[in-house]
Amino acid sequence: MKTVNLGIIGLNGRGRLWNYWKQIEGVNIAAGADISRDSIDKFLKLCNPDAFVTENYRDLLSRSDLDGIVVTTPDYLHAKMVTAALESGKFVYCEKPLAVSVKECDDILEASRRHPGKLMIGFNMRYMPFVCKMKELVDNGEIGEIKAVWVRHFVGMGSNYYYHDWHANKRNVGSLLLQKGSHDIDVIHYITGHHTVKAAAFGSLDIFGGDQDNKLACPDCDLKDSCIESQMPLLNPDNKPERKYCVFRKEVNIQDNYTCLFLLDNGIKVSYNECHFTPDYHRNYTFIGTKGRIENNEIESTVKLWKRKNGRNDQPDQVFDMLNTLTREQLEIGHGGADPKICADFIRLIRGEIKEPPVPVEAGRYAAIAGLAAQYSLEHGGIAVDVK
Ligand SMILES: NC(=O)c1ccc[n+]([C@@H]2O[C@H](COP(=O)([O-])OP(=O)(O)OC[C@H]3O[C@@H](n4cnc5c(N)ncnc54)[C@H](O)[C@@H]3O)[C@@H](O)[C@H]2O)c1
Repeated sequence: MKTVNLGIIGLNGRGRLWNYWKQIEGVNIAAGADISRDSIDKFLKLCNPDAFVTENYRDLLSRSDLDGIVVTTPDYLHAKMVTAALESGKFVYCEKPLAVSVKECDDILEASRRHPGKLMIGFNMRYMPFVCKMKELVDNGEIGEIKAVWVRHFVGMGSNYYYHDWHANKRNVGSLLLQKGSHDIDVIHYITGHHTVKAAAFGSLDIFGGDQDNKLACPDCDLKDSCIESQMPLLNPDNKPERKYCVFRKEVNIQDNYTCLFLLDNGIKVSYNECHFTPDYHRNYTFIGTKGRIENNEIESTVKLWKRKNGRNDQPDQVFDMLNTLTREQLEIGHGGADPKICADFIRLIRGEIKEPPVPVEAGRYAAIAGLAAQYSLEHGGIAVDVK
């Protein structure tokens, strides 16, 4: 079996996907690029001491020994890095969201059309057991024709995920409806088989942001022992140096509370809520069709199915336990067991074992532009915005 050599651009948080690629036989994490010396040093120490490393990502693109490039840098860098990587002729894995503007999404789309079949988008939620089960039930016709979708995303520990670093500034992410919401919007598109044509939204910055100095870091703050935002456990101890700035600092300008409506191309109505200061963390999806409805419960790890019958039917007809598909330990690995699977598919794509990227670039564009339209709406009084 030919060795697949990967180069990763952006070696911190999500760059640690190398953990899963390393476990695949015949995969070598051969190179890494990052502007942070700290990220490079950790990559050399934890992943591969013999890897080629550089601070200039273009050095990876000119290397003939690399088969695939992984782009795990902040969102506003995806467009230029992904288009350049595609033009170098290599396979490319791009983290979500695809990009932070319609123009950037279109630039990537055009580059991917010049290099067909080479770009895969990191919508790992498509591999989560509850999403797979819901898709299977819909495709099997269990709930008939979908007419309504209601989604609630409770982003617990939102400050840890998004407000201590670059994510909290609009110029870097466009909107948390892209950074976070593009996952959910993609799942809605994927399960229904339809995409957004109109969006309207309201949103505000209710908890985070304020007048603290942009350079104030939690470890140096007088309130560090009483402020719950500085006390939350950090996601990964190795991320500490980066995710430390006060969530109440001046530069924070991205909404933490969103309520959106989306209309899909076949008339399906979607309501979508995303809040970054809930105590609990989970996603709750409901798809309602002409013959019944399904709903997941991420805390219970279940998907429930109700059928329309003669009369009221409060109790689910079937309850599917996701712990029957994966163990609790597997569900707790990388987004409900999804990350090892999406990483494996990228290698299968490079090896030619699958011909088309399982998560196509068009899906990345549909999700991103729906989020951008909703962001535009909330900045313009909640008007309905056409999504081209
Ligand atoms: N699919 C998922 O579930 C998932 C989860 C988390 C993050 N992500 C995505 O992964 C991407 C990275 O997020 P993160 O949380 O890992 O961020 P991060 O801040 O932890 O890491 C980003 C890394 O990119 C490096 N970088 C910045 N500019 C660079 C440049 N010009 N050249 C090379 N390296 C550069 C930084 O130094 C840092 O090491 C984002 O697009 C995010 O949306 C996806």
